[in-house]
Parts: sequence; C-alpha cells; structure tokens
Amino acid sequence: MAKAQNPAFFCSNCGYESSKWLGQCPSCRNWNTFTEAPAAKKQGGGKRKDSRVQNLPVKIREILPESGRRTSTGSSEMDTVLGGGIVKGSMILVGGDPGIGKSTLLLQVCRNLASSGQKVLYVSGEESPSQIKLRADRIGEFPESLYLMCETDLEAIETQIDSLDPDTVVVDSIQTMFSAEASGVLPGSVTQVRAVTGALLRIAKGSGTTVFIVGHVTKEGTMAGPRVLEHMVDTVLYFEGESHSSYRVLRSAKNRFGSTDELGVFEMSGAGLSDVPNASAAMLEGRPESGSGSVVVCAMEGTRPLLLEVQALVCRSNLGIPRRQAAGFDYNRVNILMAVLEKRGGLKLSDCDAYINVAGGVRVREPAMDLAVCAAIISSFRNRPFDRDTVIFGEVGLSGEVRSVGMSDRRLSEAEKLGFGRAVIPAGSRSPGTKGKIEITGVRNVYDVMGLI
Ligand code: TYD
Ligand code: MG
Repeated sequence: MAKAQNPAFFCSNCGYESSKWLGQCPSCRNWNTFTEAPAAKKQGGGKRKDSRVQNLPVKIREILPESGRRTSTGSSEMDTVLGGGIVKGSMILVGGDPGIGKSTLLLQVCRNLASSGQKVLYVSGEESPSQIKLRADRIGEFPESLYLMCETDLEAIETQIDSLDPDTVVVDSIQTMFSAEASGVLPGSVTQVRAVTGALLRIAKGSGTTVFIVGHVTKEGTMAGPRVLEHMVDTVLYFEGESHSSYRVLRSAKNRFGSTDELGVFEMSGAGLSDVPNASAAMLEGRPESGSGSVVVCAMEGTRPLLLEVQALVCRSNLGIPRRQAAGFDYNRVNILMAVLEKRGGLKLSDCDAYINVAGGVRVREPAMDLAVCAAIISSFRNRPFDRDTVIFGEVGLSGEVRSVGMSDRRLSEAEKLGFGRAVIPAGSRSPGTKGKIEITGVRNVYDVMGLI
C-alpha cells in the first residue's frame, strides 16, 4: 500500500493513508471514509517495539526450536488451525460476523486454558458481567483462575494486566476499546484500533502474554474491520458459517507459527460449541436418497480431506439472460464451467438457469471441485441421478480436459473411511484399478464424465 510522507488522513474502512483528505479511497473505493488521524504519527503505525525490550542479533543456528512451547487450547480443532496449539506470547486475531460465536469460542478456550492451570483474563467491552455469566452457564463449569473484566479503557486494562500478570488475555472486541493515546477519535476507528493493538502487541511481546483479539467484520465504513490489523498480529483466524446452519468453520488466513488454510469444524449447540472431528460425515448428513444434481466431492482444506455434497439445479430459463447462482462456490467459476460443458460437451446450457450449492454452509476454494460441479450440472440437466456410492474430484480446464489434483490418496482414503465404493478421478492422477475398497475410474475430459451419467 502506498504511503504518504506524513499521513494525516486515514480511510476508516481499509486504513489507506493520505496526506490530504480524499472523497473516495483509492484503495477500497469507498466514499466519504476519510477521517483525520492526529495520533497516527505518534503511533508510528503501532509497530514500534517497547524501548525496554532490547533485541540483539543472534545466530540463527543457536535459536531454540519453538516446539514444546505450544499450549493446547483444549479443542483439537482449534489446535489444528493454530498449527498445533498456542505459541506463548503470540497475538491471535479472531474475526467474524456478529453473532457467529466468537465470544462463545473464546470463552470456551479461556475455560480450557484456565482448567489446565493458566491464569486467564477475559476482557469484554461489549457485555456486562451478568450477560457473560449467562453465556458461561450454558457452557458449563468454570475454574478459579479465570478472571473477567468489563472495561473499554485500554489504560485501565493495562494496569490490571500488570497487576494480575495473566498467561492469556482475551480482548472482546477490539472495536470497543478506547486508548487515551489516540484521544479525540471514536473507538472502532482505524486510529483507535491501531493504537489499542499496538499497546496489546507490546504487552504480548514484552511479557510473553498470549493475546486473543476479537474483531468484527463489517462492511460499514465507520468501523475498522480487522483487515487493518492483519499485518500487526501473528495469526488471523476467521470464524465463518451460515446463519441457518449449526456448523461453524474456523480458518486461518495468516499464521506465523503454522500453515494457513487449515480448517476446524465446530457445531453450535445449546451448550456452546463442540468439536466436529469427523466433519465429512456431518457434512453429508441428510443427503437425498436419490435424485439428480447431487454429487459428493472430496475437497482438501489445507491438509484435511473433506467430503461435501455439491448440488446443482439446472432448468429452462424464462428470462432473456439466464440466472446463475452459487453458494459455497465461486460464481464466476460456475459460468466458466457451464461454458466449457456447452462448447466441449455439446450441452445446450446457455438458455438454462443454474443454481449451485455446497451443502453444509462451507465455502470451498479448490480446483478439485470443478469436476464435481460439472457432474452435478450434467446430472441435473439430464435429470439422471449420479451414482450415490461415488465420490468425484478433479480440475477442469478450458478445453474440457480433466487435470489431476494433489493428494489424491488422502482424498480416496477419506472416501473409503466413509464407506464409498467408487471414485471418479482424473486419469492422470493414478492408474485405474482399486485403492483399498474403492474402485477407481479415470476420466480424461468432460465427455468421459458425461458418459458416466
Ligand atoms: P456469540 O458468541 O455471542 O457471538 P459473537 O461474539 O460472534 O457475536 O454467540 C452468538 C450466538 O450463539 C447467539 O445467537 C446464541 C448462540 N449460542 C448458542 O446457540 N448456544 C450457546 O450455548 C451459546 C453460548 C450461544
Ligand atoms: Mg461477542
């Protein structure tokens, strides 16, 4: 991001800096989002280190490995997403839509950490102690060493952190916190959010306290979304889910201590969130007995195979321009795949409406979904069901060719584990035959797939 010499104005949406006021932000293209930010210069972007901590050059061979310094959060799903547990002194941002369950998730993590002997401080700027107690009662028993503080003034929080000296601090949410350092600016603005995060960063790196920050993702220009903070923290997690579904997915978008693109699946029930270790079985629950337009794909989320049902509904359009919709899958990709099927497969799809849905409320961004989406479209278009006992995955190119995708063995093992008997995969991935109990059919292009339906 380009930075002006002495930025005095900030875009309150994306954090773009400018020396003069602008009507439209050149970065995020929002209008009227520029606000004056007097404290920005003093903060130095919030990245300056505490003067007490002096870092000297060290030999890279002599640095001790990080392993062993990880603490389990008590939830195996969350540990996976974090790359094996919490690294001491790290700063973790948990973002997500309001009401998705961020506070519940973190309160449960706090309880687990406190049960394992840590001293934990949960700071809430959003709810009163009795409201939090109500939630805590639903979750279960709480140990002695979990402290709760309802406060929005950062300086007061810092004082309490100094005197209590907790191992872990949770700040819920960053948009409600207020620092006098950036006085004159409303809480939730980019300047405030930066000032507060900068101060928390000094606490985390200075005293080795692990800090969790909750951030709301809003499209509104007045609130600073967690995007501004992403470069400041060590780990960025996103908590996602569809409001109608009880499943929630935790994803890592950035992780200095582990791989990104890991995924954890949770289920929200009356008693808080619980891990869903066997996500594939949960995602396939309620699959129709028979019917066209439904296929099962094995997608990889990081290193985790996930079986999902892809549904398509293709019907004759009454409109000049056919409607196309996609939930859980890239809309533009649907259009491309339909064009490929039309041109290379000879299916007359251009005057059809098409609706694609990935059941379970998960959003997948993986090329291996292509073949499953094509199969679902063909199945719905011809009104012939796809074999219920078959999983399918592969990437589809613009010439209609099916290209191989990575980790086919892991995908096939997952399908076998869930009792699938057949798999349709790119011919280049494996020689035909069987893998375990799964019978493998290789396909070279979309024609081959059409022949199967
Ligand atoms: P919350 O953690 O407050 O969301 P956030 O902090 O992301 O805004 O949780 C919100 C929703 O979760 C709320 O609508 C109620 C629901 N919920 C349950 O279904 N079961 C539970 O045990 C709890 C604590 C919450
Ligand atoms: Mg909350």
